[in-house]
Amino acid sequence: MNETVKFTRDGAVAMLTVSRPEALNALNSQVLTELGAHARSLAEMRDVQVVVITGEGEKAFVAGADIKEMLAFTSEEAARFGRVGAQAFAALARLPQIVIAKVNGFALGGGLELALAADFIYASAKARFGLPEVMLGLIPGFGGTQRLADRIGVARALEWVTGADKYDANEALAAGLVNRVVAPEELNDAVNTLARRIAANGPGAVRSAKAVVTASRRTDAGVGFELESAQFGLRFGTAEAKEGLAAFVEKRAAKFPAL
Ligand code: CAA
Repeated sequence: MNETVKFTRDGAVAMLTVSRPEALNALNSQVLTELGAHARSLAEMRDVQVVVITGEGEKAFVAGADIKEMLAFTSEEAARFGRVGAQAFAALARLPQIVIAKVNGFALGGGLELALAADFIYASAKARFGLPEVMLGLIPGFGGTQRLADRIGVARALEWVTGADKYDANEALAAGLVNRVVAPEELNDAVNTLARRIAANGPGAVRSAKAVVTASRRTDAGVGFELESAQFGLRFGTAEAKEGLAAFVEKRAAKFPAL
């Protein structure tokens, strides 16, 4: 099976590139499994100080979980898929290194959740962010509800999650989701320069600083994460989700049944 996450390395800077450009880098089970495996091996790499996560191609960072794969899920399969994704993202969020999401295009659904598992986001001016899961009759399932609320506040996160709108890079910057927005052609240089600057500093001090600065944040053992996982799995048993997922694949608007 071809790999769907490429691992490259330049000295103390490692890069993970989600690589399914024909599906806008959508997260299927294989991508999630590979991301989890990379996170676990990166955690042991004492000579890597910065990890950059990005998506292949010009158009997308990651356009979410793979809707075509999810269409056929039973509740149990969905719960397993949710668990694999949530555990992979939790392993990324726990990394001792500084993790930068380099968002080159669409970061939607599970794609935004992946970016949120990084420590911070640098974005191209043409990046688009959003959590459109409710349009599919679902909710985010990879920690995004919790991490978005941590990043931009509960009120704004609730608007984003329930409105399912897309936000451009400057709106994301204003909301505090993104650290920096640059022209698309400058994104690689901006991230490389920052990554090298961080990697040139005392590696022990950088790790210690990350541990301390992030100490007050909600951990992935919190009740909200468990609730999110449980609700994500349950959504798949509903007629609403079946209609929402089928409508996307059939390229039409969803007609949701009444509650
Ligand atoms: N899953 C599977 N395939 C996807 C995909 C996804 N999330 N997003 C895009 N693709 C596929 C499209 O089906 C299309 O394939 P075909 O050529 O075979 O039809 C190809 O990628 C190109 O996409 P579009 O033709 O749709 O490109 P566009 O420029 O018209 O639109 C887009 C781009 C706005 C990002 C649109 O593709 C889109 O809305 N994608 C879905 C976004 C979404 O809803 N993500 C959330 C998924 S649910 C989730 O993530 C759950 C969770 O939290 C765990």
